[in-house]
Amino acid sequence: MEQTFIIIKPDAVQRGLVGQVLSRIERRGFVIRDLKMLTATEELISQHYDHLTDKPFFPLLVDYMTSGPIIAGIIEGPEVIRSWRDMMGATNPVNALPGTIRGDFATAPIEGIVANVVHGSDSLEAAEREIGLWLGK
Ligand code: TYD
Ligand code: MG
Repeated sequence: MEQTFIIIKPDAVQRGLVGQVLSRIERRGFVIRDLKMLTATEELISQHYDHLTDKPFFPLLVDYMTSGPIIAGIIEGPEVIRSWRDMMGATNPVNALPGTIRGDFATAPIEGIVANVVHGSDSLEAAEREIGLWLGK
């Protein structure tokens, strides 16, 4: 069965949204296979977002993603990679539709940084790479 890698980001943990995010995963029928709370290092975030390290906003993205504890995990289900991306909504909350996690919970970008509540792998290759990077599996 397909698996994807998820993060409940620092803004969501800090705002007390963990339960609501996990509840949507369970309501959708996906199975939670692993969950881990940690505070990410700059090195880990740089590896995770290696396609973004050249962007002007990257230092602020690192500051945001290392600003507090996050929940990293694996969820499983049919076409979970695409489906979880659909459930998350657009990267920029300004464009995220109502009913999506980002559309319902994320705030507008602050200083160009998108504190958008959740992460999900965008392909099978990314899911495998991120599960290995974060969870050693
Ligand atoms: P990206 O992988 O493009 O988006 P997604 O999380 O939807 O897969 O970008 C990773 C994160 O980087 C994104 O969730 C928030 C941040 N980001 C910004 O802050 N500003 C931006 O212009 C972009 C493209 C991303
Ligand atoms: Mg991405």
